[in-house]
Amino acid sequence: MNKIAILTSGGDSPGMNAAVRAVTRAAIYFGYEVVGIRYGYRGLIEDDFVEIQSSDVSGIIQRGGTILKTARSEKFMSSEGRAVAAENLKKHGVDTLIVIGGDGTFRGATIIAAEHGINVVGIPATIDNDLVGSDETIGYDTALNTAMEAIDKIRDTADAHERLFLVEVMGRHTGFIALETGIASGAEMIVLPEEIKNIEEIKKSLSETLKVHKRSTLIVVAEGDETGGAAEISSQLEEDFGKYDMKVCILGHVQRGGAPSAHDRVLASRLGYEAIKAIHEGENKVMVGVINNKCVLTPLKETFGKVKEVNLDLLTMAKILR
Ligand code: F6P
Repeated sequence: MNKIAILTSGGDSPGMNAAVRAVTRAAIYFGYEVVGIRYGYRGLIEDDFVEIQSSDVSGIIQRGGTILKTARSEKFMSSEGRAVAAENLKKHGVDTLIVIGGDGTFRGATIIAAEHGINVVGIPATIDNDLVGSDETIGYDTALNTAMEAIDKIRDTADAHERLFLVEVMGRHTGFIALETGIASGAEMIVLPEEIKNIEEIKKSLSETLKVHKRSTLIVVAEGDETGGAAEISSQLEEDFGKYDMKVCILGHVQRGGAPSAHDRVLASRLGYEAIKAIHEGENKVMVGVINNKCVLTPLKETFGKVKEVNLDLLTMAKILR
């Protein structure tokens, strides 16, 4: 019987468990054996393999985090580390490795596939939504909703005190979370790495924003912003905007936790199922994604290290609607 190995790697994202469940159940349906690798590429090197049966993935579709655990592995970045990993896959008789994660995960999979002839298939799961080849990645929708709910709460206290809040959201180098949570929470200003490049631009934009008379002002800042994030921006605004009661809130890892939204559970189920179908049809070195509600395959090496554009028209809209 052919064997499929599955791992989750890099930053966890809500819906990874739903993807593990879908991969496992679809694989068993199509006649494969499934083995899980704990702690991502670290576990691949350390030979941390566990057999997975259908019952092992019961009751996990609604859980955040990942039952397989995850890690960011330094050792996997070396050719020696990858050689040990490849040896372990061969030792366990694995025919195809499914990797669930983001750009670092796919980069690693592409390299080990090229170096050691390993069959790999990627499932995009990162709250950052920064992979080319899928309109959305698993976990992004949940992170958006988590951030929006937190910002709604901040709005209450901002209104009560008539304060100006800078709220920093995750996204690494991209502004997907900032843009959509900013719109959804009615932020007065959104600072994206894709648009604003320096503090002078932020000051100019804030002066315009403050002309819109409101009880409170919420500025959603993407962590990847080149101006250094919300805390740095706030300290640089002090000189010119010191008369405002200014507060900073960094939402941080709260955005990675929690039960996946219905949207992420469905997306993860579809992508897990499609990954197995792709393997069954002989596909290799591809990522499964959803574009315009259709499942598509993209060569794995084309999914990372490229700029996935945020829709800047939405930013124009947000400025009008604020
Ligand atoms: O890639 C997901 C992400 O949460 C980014 O948004 C963030 O920049 C990064 O991971 C944080 O990584 P870590 O949890 O390793 O500090």
